[in-house]
Amino acid sequence: MHAQPSIHPSLSVANKVILVTGAFGLIGKTISEAFLQQGARVVLADLKQDRMTSLQEELSAQFSQSQFLIHALDITDETSCEQVVAATVAAFGSLDVLINNAAIDAKFDKEHAGSINPSRFENYPPELLQQSVDVNLTGTVRMTQHACRQMLTQKSGHIINVASTYSVVAPNQSLYDFGEGIKQFKPIDYIASKSFVPNFTRYVATFYAKDGIRCNAIVPHAIYNNHDEAFLANFAKLSPMGRMCTREELIGPFTFLASDASSYMTGSILTVDGGWTAW
Ligand SMILES: NC(=O)c1ccc[n+]([C@@H]2O[C@H](COP(=O)([O-])OP(=O)(O)OC[C@H]3O[C@@H](n4cnc5c(N)ncnc54)[C@H](O)[C@@H]3O)[C@@H](O)[C@H]2O)c1
Repeated sequence: MHAQPSIHPSLSVANKVILVTGAFGLIGKTISEAFLQQGARVVLADLKQDRMTSLQEELSAQFSQSQFLIHALDITDETSCEQVVAATVAAFGSLDVLINNAAIDAKFDKEHAGSINPSRFENYPPELLQQSVDVNLTGTVRMTQHACRQMLTQKSGHIINVASTYSVVAPNQSLYDFGEGIKQFKPIDYIASKSFVPNFTRYVATFYAKDGIRCNAIVPHAIYNNHDEAFLANFAKLSPMGRMCTREELIGPFTFLASDASSYMTGSILTVDGGWTAW
């Protein structure tokens, strides 16, 4: 007689307290809802205050109010980071998992374009790096510090940093070549500010390895969000799998990392890129 098939208990995130930054965006909302569906208690924190009421209504229709908290957060602001951790602990008693998902992918400021091709590297104004660095790098460090202070008091916790393929490889600029008009390039700001994520992950992981705090990173890539045909055609030629990632395909990897199934992992980078960085 065969045992009934069941999911291994270590993969459960039920009752875990998970704080997701940038939770109103594409990936943040997808994983927050997936964690709620699996019984986790989730704090959805984001800069976009105008989305709070509609999201509150949307989630209240599906989940118990006692299971989630929607909270304002600006990771560039010290007090805001402190407050979201305090609110998490006040609501749910602990902070088990922080997902550092908030980031900006600033498009080039057209006012600086002039007659030159603005996003070619040699023409890129270095001062435009600052905004991305403030959010993607300094903001992530600041948010992590506040989480670590709480996790040290608990003697447990897990920080999951959301990296990018551009944290580990350069952009293939032909992805942005649509063969007409001014040539597009992926500018340096996003690449520069996300490249720190893997080594920051290793820094935090080794710093706290004996304190019960783990730190890992996930590398998502190219989540489909109604991209146009020209982009999809370029993408299909460059990606080993020939297609973009669906939102649903992120749920398993994020759940695995957030669960105890990853308990011996720290300082690791889990790559979910359809093979993009494999060639
Ligand atoms: N979408 C992709 O294809 C993709 C691929 C690789 C990596 N990523 C990474 O995934 C993460 C989420 O990306 P996304 O596509 O969902 O982006 P998104 O723009 O849809 O969501 C990002 C969210 O972060 C919030 N945010 C921005 N600045 C903030 C701040 N200072 N404080 C708090 N919140 C702030 C925004 O309001 C937004 O809701 C990012 O770290 C991004 O680098 C995305």
